Amino acid sequence: MSEKFSESDRYKVRDLGLAAQGRMKIDWAESRMPVLMKLRKEHSEKQSLKGMRIAGCLHVTKETAVLVETLAAAGAEISWSGCNPLSTNDEVAAALAEAGISIYAWHGMNTEEFYWCIDKTLEMKPTLTLDDGADLIFSVHNRHPELAGTIIGGTEETTTGVHRLRAMARDGALKYPVIAVNDAETKWDFDNVFGTGQSSLDGILRATSVLLAGKNFVTAGFGHCGKGCAMRAAGMGSNVIVTEVKPTAALKAILNGFEVMKMDDAARVGDVFITATGMKDVIRGRHFEVMKDGAIVCNTGHYDCEINLVDLEEMATSKRLIRDNCEEYTMSDGRRIYVLAQGRLVNLAAAEGHPSEVMDMSFANQFLSMVRLASEGRDLEVTVHDIPEEQDQRIAGIKLETIGAGLDVLTDEQVAYLDDYAAGT
Ligand code: ADE
Repeated sequence: MSEKFSESDRYKVRDLGLAAQGRMKIDWAESRMPVLMKLRKEHSEKQSLKGMRIAGCLHVTKETAVLVETLAAAGAEISWSGCNPLSTNDEVAAALAEAGISIYAWHGMNTEEFYWCIDKTLEMKPTLTLDDGADLIFSVHNRHPELAGTIIGGTEETTTGVHRLRAMARDGALKYPVIAVNDAETKWDFDNVFGTGQSSLDGILRATSVLLAGKNFVTAGFGHCGKGCAMRAAGMGSNVIVTEVKPTAALKAILNGFEVMKMDDAARVGDVFITATGMKDVIRGRHFEVMKDGAIVCNTGHYDCEINLVDLEEMATSKRLIRDNCEEYTMSDGRRIYVLAQGRLVNLAAAEGHPSEVMDMSFANQFLSMVRLASEGRDLEVTVHDIPEEQDQRIAGIKLETIGAGLDVLTDEQVAYLDDYAAGT
């Protein structure tokens, strides 16, 4: 890949010449994100984020661009980086840079460049941080602790990030309040389930073009993301097998009609494997040892540690990139195993991430959390906070309005009935 970039003090992107294509992608996303666009109108009038400096570290996609431009329209100064080396859309990054946003992001960066980009965004001395995977917050805490004092608060988008931040809060290591955007019902029950389900299958199909009907599709993990993948693979006619460590999750998978087995057994029969666990080494050497010739392996969890590729590299005799985002590893006995997107998020690396319609609600939560931190953040306890129930209902309400679905309203009598402990059979 050519190492030519477009750069200035304010940005570093692959090629500013891609901006026009990126702008069309952003226009497309805007037309499918009515909740965020409504909030943009309201808060650009109020200038609710005036005076705020927001550093963000989140996948640079067309949907993220709609969020970034909504934050900017509400008066914030922004500096942005991507949160995964393979998830940046270079066209979108170019369009944001052209529009005057400070952005440091390009597709295919290495780990050193990844942290360089984060550090560049921190030069603005943010008052708010916005994360997906918590790498920005960790960078503040571990490498730039002097910045924490002026940061009012932050938000976190993913299950994995929220889990680690709660661990930091328990240990007293967290230095400023964080809002767990992931834990909003209008986020996890839509983005994690329907977004991950559709976009992960989209990534698998773009990278392989295989027929899913009749295949044994192994989903590691039956949390919200794993459930989404399982549901959608079943809808395509796959025979879905779930692996789990949590008894209740395994039972839910069975009652949803899926087979549950250990990975040691699933590894022998699976045709397509996807990890959605947040755990490392879910698929490792002993599983590769018994996989069928032609097995396809990918990950949709935040970090690229779920598939142990070091084991596979050691076991394979050769490797070649056979299609975009699809590497063929040949084992000493001639079996071929295909790894998609280098074990990174297949939905963002090989496809375009979740559809705009679900990101609309996730990013409405991000936006309203930024507004809340700007106004109340200084009074919030330094811990991980949930999204208020009213915010969830408000976002769902606007979404329903834009879909045009009618909603019943309880009568006063019905409301009273709910609390009426004198009423029985
Ligand atoms: N995470 C998953 N899908 C995404 C998208 N389309 N944009 C930003 N973050 C995402």
